Amino acid sequence: MAKAIVQFPKGFLWGTATAAHQVEGNNTNNNWSAWEKEPGRIMHGQSAGVACDWWGGRWKEDLDRAAETGQNAHRFSVEWSRIQPEPGKWDENAIERYRTILRGMHDRNLRPMVTLHHFTDPLWLVEMGGWENPETPAFFAKYVEKVVASLKEYVTEWVTINEPNVYSYSGYVSGDFPPGKKDMGTAFSVMVNLVKGHALAYHGIHNVQPEAKVGLAINYRSFYPASKSPLDIFVAKTQSAIFNDLFPKAAVDGKVRFLFKTVTIPEAKNTQDFIGLNYYTRDMVSFDITKPNTLFGRSFYRPEAELSSTGFIANEPDGFTEAIKWANRFGYPIYITENGVEDEKDTLRPKYLAYHIHKLWHMVNFNSNIKGYFHWSLVDNFEWERGWTQRFGLWGLDTETQQRIRRGSVDFYAEICRQNGLSSEMIEKYCPDAIQNIFPD
Ligand code: GAL
Repeated sequence: MAKAIVQFPKGFLWGTATAAHQVEGNNTNNNWSAWEKEPGRIMHGQSAGVACDWWGGRWKEDLDRAAETGQNAHRFSVEWSRIQPEPGKWDENAIERYRTILRGMHDRNLRPMVTLHHFTDPLWLVEMGGWENPETPAFFAKYVEKVVASLKEYVTEWVTINEPNVYSYSGYVSGDFPPGKKDMGTAFSVMVNLVKGHALAYHGIHNVQPEAKVGLAINYRSFYPASKSPLDIFVAKTQSAIFNDLFPKAAVDGKVRFLFKTVTIPEAKNTQDFIGLNYYTRDMVSFDITKPNTLFGRSFYRPEAELSSTGFIANEPDGFTEAIKWANRFGYPIYITENGVEDEKDTLRPKYLAYHIHKLWHMVNFNSNIKGYFHWSLVDNFEWERGWTQRFGLWGLDTETQQRIRRGSVDFYAEICRQNGLSSEMIEKYCPDAIQNIFPD
């Protein structure tokens, strides 16, 4: 018997999350496959390649691993460019493949959550201007209706767009994602079109499947003023208002607010049945006149924070509490649609997991209506512009041999899922140095 245990409500979903382009392999008809061919875009010139070979059938073995280690849910995405390879053409074989994968999830008692857009766009759409084109929301809605009509017998929870905030920031402000632009004005029109696309998709899904539950997955980043200076506070607030609030607020009242501009999209009003929350880390933010592209904010991690292996993520569980409090204010059920850390050697992950699950439990007990947690990720996969340099998987991946490497966190997460809770015994076993913080004497 454990000395202490924190317990989650019955029926809580415990899973992992993946995305099509990152795990499927051999995606050749989308913007990322083209981007990966351009010199200098991806670290070390890497590309997704066969990725985790899910399209070749290895989804089976990975979902076996998920189910055998106590998980009861899985979030994944379907690839628009496979389903609609050309504007007027549906690939029924690709749709059938997704139906098979979904049946595979149900056979393994994994409840699916499906993301309809996770960063990738078909090449034909890119040629028409991608999300800069005001017609794209309608193209997206058509694709979404086709997918939902074809898959609805297996799926109730849909995420329309994954991290529209990261998509628009990285593609149109920092330029790290395709199309690599650095232009705030264009970023704003893309944001407006993403809100429209989400809204049309929301209504389309409910027409096809009235009982569906639909949301966005937002990457919540905690922007913490580096000092008490009013300028630091102002910049942190402004960054948060745009990065964190813009999309979910627009889906509440139909207004897209960006600095001094507001655009009203009436059809976007009340278009969320849940909030999908992706949380990784917290930034300290200070005012910096030389950084107009980040709204005059300079970001850095707390010097004493523990960092992930490439320094990409600081272990900041208080930011997770802040994120859940923020999500809770919208008044919808919440799913943690992503949370995790890149950590090839699995030295930080157990601690990161313990602290974040503990904060999650705390918020569940403060009346947050949190329905489930999806760890990013099940197996190492292609990390966008960072290529294969970052390893987020519970299982590692040898990309040469496709061999999976069982990291210690697999067993830790399995115990959490099976017990539907976190115990002092688990902490003593997997990350003893966290015990005093989580279960103090
Ligand atoms: C998120 C994204 C995922 C994954 C993760 C870790 O922003 O939705 O696809 O890449 O970050 O970097």
